[in-house]
Amino acid sequence: MNTVPIALITGANRGIGLETARQLGRQGMHVFLGSRDLARGRAAAEKLQASGMAVEAVELDVTRSSTIRAAADLIGGRFGRLDVLVNNAAVALDDKTKKPSQQSLDTWRAVFAVNFFGLVEVTQVFMPWLHKSQAGRIVNLASGLASITLHADPKDGLPKTMAVYSVSKTAVTAWTVQLAAELKDTPIKVNACDPGWVKTDLGGPEAPTTVEDGAKTSVRLATLDANGPSGGFFKNNQTVPW
Ligand SMILES: NC(=O)c1ccc[n+]([C@@H]2O[C@H](COP(=O)([O-])OP(=O)(O)OC[C@H]3O[C@@H](n4cnc5c(N)ncnc54)[C@H](OP(=O)(O)O)[C@@H]3O)[C@@H](O)[C@H]2O)c1
Repeated sequence: MNTVPIALITGANRGIGLETARQLGRQGMHVFLGSRDLARGRAAAEKLQASGMAVEAVELDVTRSSTIRAAADLIGGRFGRLDVLVNNAAVALDDKTKKPSQQSLDTWRAVFAVNFFGLVEVTQVFMPWLHKSQAGRIVNLASGLASITLHADPKDGLPKTMAVYSVSKTAVTAWTVQLAAELKDTPIKVNACDPGWVKTDLGGPEAPTTVEDGAKTSVRLATLDANGPSGGFFKNNQTVPW
């Protein structure tokens, strides 16, 4: 059997996803770099291939079922399993000039389509291949903004200008707990990740964390050994409050 771990990262043509692909590729994994635009994915993958990594682009738009199924057929057909799934793709579309109650339903639907329903569908479609792995790992990218505890603390001061994004990420952490319970008697571990506030297109130029450090929690959760946690929410080695 081919023992090189097989990984898939969604939304990996830029930002934290691309850096996660780089760090997992550097560890010797065979990485599928998911991108909703295959040309952008290939351009990103080529840079990693040039450093000798086994990274290849695969078209995957988390809102388009046909691309999710095609990616699963491609990876499952070739390798017979998936060892690591990093659900990284996301959008932040809140209108920051508006209050939470004023965000349009179109915005709620568009954000949940990617950040939550897309993540759930990718997981469902790849689940049979994750069950074929001897040590499946699922990493769900949440955010510190997912924390209800921190949002509800009047002293914490988490911004309320991204209510739609924040609630979509809370759904991701809640789903992570449900899935971990389902998988508790299997080798598969699933955890939610807060990468920190990271300098990317989404995080913006003011963010204090480099993309290299921002990818570290995803990489840690993707490479947990058999004694590692499941059903948790982590930033670096710390637990994030729900
Ligand atoms: N940056 C931060 O400070 C921060 C903080 C907390 C959590 N996070 C989370 O970390 C993850 C990565 O964020 P980032 O900062 O790297 O964001 P980013 O630079 O904006 O990259 C987002 C990625 O998601 C992809 N994407 C968007 N919609 C998609 C779809 N429908 N199907 C497939 N891919 C799609 C984008 O593809 P295109 O290039 O085609 O648009 C891009 O590759 C996200 O889950 C984010 O919520 C980030």
